[in-house]
Amino acid sequence: MQSTYFDIYREWQTAPEEFWRRQAETLHWFKPIEKVFDKDQGVYGRWFVGGETNTCYNCIDRHVSKGRGDQTALIYDSAMNGDKRKYSFDEMLVEVQAIAAVLRNHGVGKGDRVVIYMPMVPEAVFSMLACARLGAVHSVVFGGFAAHELAARIDDCGAKVVISASCGLEPGRVVAYKPLLDHALGIAKVKPDFCLVLQRDELHAALRYEHGDVDFRQAVEIEKVNGTVVDCEPVTATDPLYVLYTSGTTGQPKGVIRDNGGHMVALNWTMKNLYGVEAGEVFWAASDIGWVVGHSYIVYGPLLAGNTTVLFEGKPVGTPDAGTYWRIVSEYDVKVLFTAPTAFRAIRRDDPEGKLVETYDLSGLRALFLAGERADPETLKWAEQVLQVPVIDHWWQTETGWPMVGNPVGLGLLPFKPGSPTHPMPGYLIEVLDDAGHPVPTNTLGNIVVKLPLPPGCLVSFWNADERFRQGCLEEFPGYYKTADAGMLDDDGYLFVMARTDDIINCAGHRLSTGAMEEVCAMHPDVAECAVVGVADSLKGQIPCGFLVLKNNVTRDEKLIEKEVVDLVRNEIGPVAAFRTVMVVKRLPKTRSGKILRGTMQKIADGMPWKMPATIDDPVILDEIIEILKSKGYAKGAADTAA
Ligand code: COA
Ligand code: AMP
Repeated sequence: MQSTYFDIYREWQTAPEEFWRRQAETLHWFKPIEKVFDKDQGVYGRWFVGGETNTCYNCIDRHVSKGRGDQTALIYDSAMNGDKRKYSFDEMLVEVQAIAAVLRNHGVGKGDRVVIYMPMVPEAVFSMLACARLGAVHSVVFGGFAAHELAARIDDCGAKVVISASCGLEPGRVVAYKPLLDHALGIAKVKPDFCLVLQRDELHAALRYEHGDVDFRQAVEIEKVNGTVVDCEPVTATDPLYVLYTSGTTGQPKGVIRDNGGHMVALNWTMKNLYGVEAGEVFWAASDIGWVVGHSYIVYGPLLAGNTTVLFEGKPVGTPDAGTYWRIVSEYDVKVLFTAPTAFRAIRRDDPEGKLVETYDLSGLRALFLAGERADPETLKWAEQVLQVPVIDHWWQTETGWPMVGNPVGLGLLPFKPGSPTHPMPGYLIEVLDDAGHPVPTNTLGNIVVKLPLPPGCLVSFWNADERFRQGCLEEFPGYYKTADAGMLDDDGYLFVMARTDDIINCAGHRLSTGAMEEVCAMHPDVAECAVVGVADSLKGQIPCGFLVLKNNVTRDEKLIEKEVVDLVRNEIGPVAAFRTVMVVKRLPKTRSGKILRGTMQKIADGMPWKMPATIDDPVILDEIIEILKSKGYAKGAADTAA
């Protein structure tokens, strides 16, 4: 099929508002849009002003009213406990209304914030939709975060309610959520009115009814038996649908605000045009609802477009083996799979020849999409070879909510270039600028930016922090949104994304802030100063590596201190930080103005060519760092002196 991509992109560029107005018409509005884009509202303008809608209505009721009620909306498969369930749109409507009724009975209404701290169970998805139904704003917190991170989010969004579960299931261990939740509530300044707790068979939590705990299943069951109807609350297109916290450059996470109107219009467009799936087909994003991929492509995107979505609890390997993904694809006839490259690196490590692929019928699969981190060409090639379908890298971030750059299956694939996620999607005008804000020539590395206004579906601001949004994302390059990724455009307009320009690292597809980890390391009483950098890891892409300088008077065993710091990060941020590599050093390399040379340390650790910074205060320190890194198995092949 000849790609119509360039026609569609030009159509958008010629008349962007007309383009998005047409896309909006495919969805249901209680009240028509007055202005497609109003540049005078919000931080950089707002989409679909005046329109009233409801995202839950568009995800469920719209399909039911069009006669698709008995189509499967959600397939749940837990490789952790063998639980398998299917829900049609009709059944989903019953579940979601019952949860909405429970929330409403407890006083939750439009604009109230609901924190959802749950494992990968259908009730988590239904809870998100129940909030959307009421016009309440959900904020899902990933289960791998510890109590302090949960508390920070409860405080920042001012949660009225927390919905949680008794436990999550990780390979080899049951993660008790309730003690984490109780701990978080103990330290949070904001005290939610009540907590709705889903009991799972693997571990029952002790509910403290006197403190406002409510048994999720019992409460929901009553509403189901009563057949309580909860109609969708009309909200304006610009009302917030959710807040999703993501790592910033400090320990304080940024609450990305997604609105109702723009979000549903943009995601709905991507399902058919980018991913190439039709209503009724099965789409599987193997991610977690705690991340943006889960929000956009486990929950909202597929449901808006009338697809069947798969909610999978498990890992790509070890639950029970590297064939789990293939089992899901064949058992449910998945047409398009979306995951992070790290999952494929894990599968390839356990099944290098892809033998397990041959034991399943994957004939229904049409494409594999990868995102969340740079797709290394080796992994990409391997996936293509074993699956025999197009493997498509696409680039986006929590802030944008949907892909900025990709290769659109639905419009006809463009030729591939290894290492590039291909071309910008309609809505995104991508440029590459130097640090002074001037466009760089093609094939030259620079800051990747998006011309304002951002398209529908992108963040409208950070929760309660317009100024932080302006300063962090819009100020450095006036007229543009700064992605904080570095890369280049080639002569054919293909984008190559190379690295972050800030201290964010990508570990197993999880976005982590090394700055936040440094803040925690510095809390240890024996640590005078520290630096955390991301070092290359063959499975996870990058892992954090901490360097600690101890206070002068410390005589305690260094190994013990290292272990305490590792435990501290795990307890404060959570296991997801994967912080295991830490080393005590005498001093940290710095510039004469006192800036820690993290980039140089990272290059040395990875065995990459490095240059002695002209501004270094004391070059001898780097020799010490190299020695320690080598003793720990890093800096392999690193020259002991700069090139
Ligand atoms: N709840 C509680 N703990 C969690 C968790 C959750 N939802 N998710 C992860 N963790 C824990 C893990 O159990 C692990 O704990 P441990 O230190 O006790 O072993 C720790 O956090 C680190 O997890 P992770 O980085 O995922 O490493 P892993 O070794 O458990 O698994 C992969 C590695 C590659 C198999 C795994 O990261 C994976 O499946 N990635 C798929 C990609 C993905 O989903 N990306 C999300 C964005 S698209
Ligand atoms: P997150 O907000 O967790 O989705 O992480 C977003 C960041 O992950 C981006 O800013 C990039 O640094 C990185 N990223 C995501 N997708 C890709 C990709 N396809 N190629 C390179 N980097 C990516």
